[in-house]
Amino acid sequence: MTVHFIGAGPGAADLITLRGRDLIAASPVCLYAGSLVPTALLDHCPPGARIVNTAPLSLDEIVAEMAAAHAAGQDVARLHSGDLSVWSAMGEQLRRLRTLGVPYDVTPGVPSFAAAAAALGAELTLPGVAQSVVLTRMSGRATAMPPGETLSAFAATGATLAVHLSVHVLDRVVAELLPHYGADCPVAVVWRASWPDERIVRATLGALETALGGELERTALILVGRAIGATDFEESRLYAGDYDRRFRPVGAAPRFPEGE
Ligand SMILES: C[S@@+](CC[C@H](N)C(=O)[O-])C[C@H]1O[C@@H](n2cnc3c(N)ncnc32)[C@H](O)[C@@H]1O
Repeated sequence: MTVHFIGAGPGAADLITLRGRDLIAASPVCLYAGSLVPTALLDHCPPGARIVNTAPLSLDEIVAEMAAAHAAGQDVARLHSGDLSVWSAMGEQLRRLRTLGVPYDVTPGVPSFAAAAAALGAELTLPGVAQSVVLTRMSGRATAMPPGETLSAFAATGATLAVHLSVHVLDRVVAELLPHYGADCPVAVVWRASWPDERIVRATLGALETALGGELERTALILVGRAIGATDFEESRLYAGDYDRRFRPVGAAPRFPEGE
């Protein structure tokens, strides 16, 4: 028996890995975080599966479901939105399962920042513009930011920022970022990336609040940085005709002679 933690992807039902889909199909119990996991994924559950929406449950109740499945020798598919490595509350569940001696494994999923970038048709790391992406958020009611992890500290680097869980405090986001990125810095907000009702607003940092007009839906990502929509950037050296590399030796004395 194993509890399979599965990244369910950002919303579109076909943005799940084949491994994740097959694990759902093979598990007689499915626990899913109903607030963001698309219910169409539950169609992969086997007939007669026990399917539980964990959105209204406490951690104790969720772990009790897992422990009961363990006692019955039944695999569990545990679905969380996006990928499990960020803001999934997986860490505390794994810690409880380790204490209980319940086996688990983890299957990654498509994170929402990647779905939002895809919706924009944007590469977030453009040569000479930005080479880092910071996945971050503002403090929330449930989770405070550790000291030092402030938006302005990240903004000081000039990296591309993917600000999660924060569209409802947009005024604070803009106020922290403006001194570092400037009012003309490109920004995009993507709501429900990959869902049928996905929505995108592009603006500059200075004009963002007006452009959004008090939009209330919270499932949104704020992407900020000069890489958003940039057209004036260097080409990657990797594919330059004169760039000598292992897979494409160039010149009379290549750095990696063929066959090496
Ligand atoms: C609890 S976190 C889950 C993050 C998730 N584990 C991931 O990999 O993206 C929820 C936040 O992720 C972002 N988010 C999740 N799904 C999204 C989507 N389809 N479009 C835009 N933002 C999304 C929003 O900022 C939302 O407030």
